[in-house]
Amino acid sequence: MTIISKDITKAITILNNEDVVAIPTETVYGLAGNIYSEKAIRKIFEVKQRPLFNPLIVHIHSIDQLQDIVSEFPEKAQLLAKAFWPGSLTLILKKKPTIPDLITAGKDSVAVRIPNHPVTLNLLQQLSFPLAAPSANPFNRISPTNASHVEDYFKDTIKMVLEGGACTNGIESTIIGFENDQPILYRLGSISIEEITNVIGEIQIKNKKETAPNAPGMLAKHYAPKTRTYLTTEVENFIKDYPDKKIGVLKFTGDINASNIEHVEILSETGGLKEAASKLYSSLHKLDILNLDMIVAEVFPDFGLGKSINDRLERATKI
Ligand code: TXA
Ligand code: MG
Repeated sequence: MTIISKDITKAITILNNEDVVAIPTETVYGLAGNIYSEKAIRKIFEVKQRPLFNPLIVHIHSIDQLQDIVSEFPEKAQLLAKAFWPGSLTLILKKKPTIPDLITAGKDSVAVRIPNHPVTLNLLQQLSFPLAAPSANPFNRISPTNASHVEDYFKDTIKMVLEGGACTNGIESTIIGFENDQPILYRLGSISIEEITNVIGEIQIKNKKETAPNAPGMLAKHYAPKTRTYLTTEVENFIKDYPDKKIGVLKFTGDINASNIEHVEILSETGGLKEAASKLYSSLHKLDILNLDMIVAEVFPDFGLGKSINDRLERATKI
């Protein structure tokens, strides 16, 4: 029996009952619960098998709601919120004392965003509490970009996936926080660095694992398919060395000329990075269920969303 449903009333009932529901956002699907319910939040961590030291993002429906969540709203954060909310930007700000430690892993800051998805905005408006929602995948697995990805992962452990179609952006939100009043980008995501600097000027980047103690979720191995994955600038050359392997290829654009390939995923026929980003995870999901010996992915152009895609592909190759 499917647990995928468009029934918002049902989702509200489950959430009011301190249980969890998977929700659509424009980035990836989230596994959501009432931020003030210890029962719901513990279930999120359990279902995902996520360590408790990894804090959650709070999802709200309007800037007005922010005053219940944070105690400070620096000027550059206001500029960013104005430019990108509702949308794929998560801000890390000083938290109100009323925000439970379970949400923030004991930190004095909280991650918050207004998602840009009509179904989830409607849901949030009908609830009397914000929703904590990490991506709806088991720890270290590929994030889900449609409802059936979530169902495949969690059909035995959660009651409902709220159907909202395929995620239009397909990569997690960009995360920005502040250190000594200076903005720091902790996770490359759906909003490119160029878009951010257009609004607030230069920003320091601490996206890599070794420099990102403030975003403990940014472990090197993350977003990983089960199939061993390789990243290369020269796909055709790379696979020549593996004539006897069952190979799947993930390419940005164009065609590929090789006989020993089982399946190819082209992310954009027209070479658009936005389209490529939106298809990245669903293509990895597809390749991952083909029982291949290896996935060979092509390095993307190193600008705009290409940087975010390369970041996820690098993490996918870690073992
Ligand atoms: O696009 C998204 O952001 C999706 C959708 C569902 O909104 N959510 C998402 O959540 O990607 P999650 O839990 O998979 O990633 C959240 C990241 C983690 O790396 C976590 O460590 C970091 O945000 N984070 C959360 N609260 C934090 C805080 N107070 N300080 C630093 N990092 C924080
Ligand atoms: Mg995640």
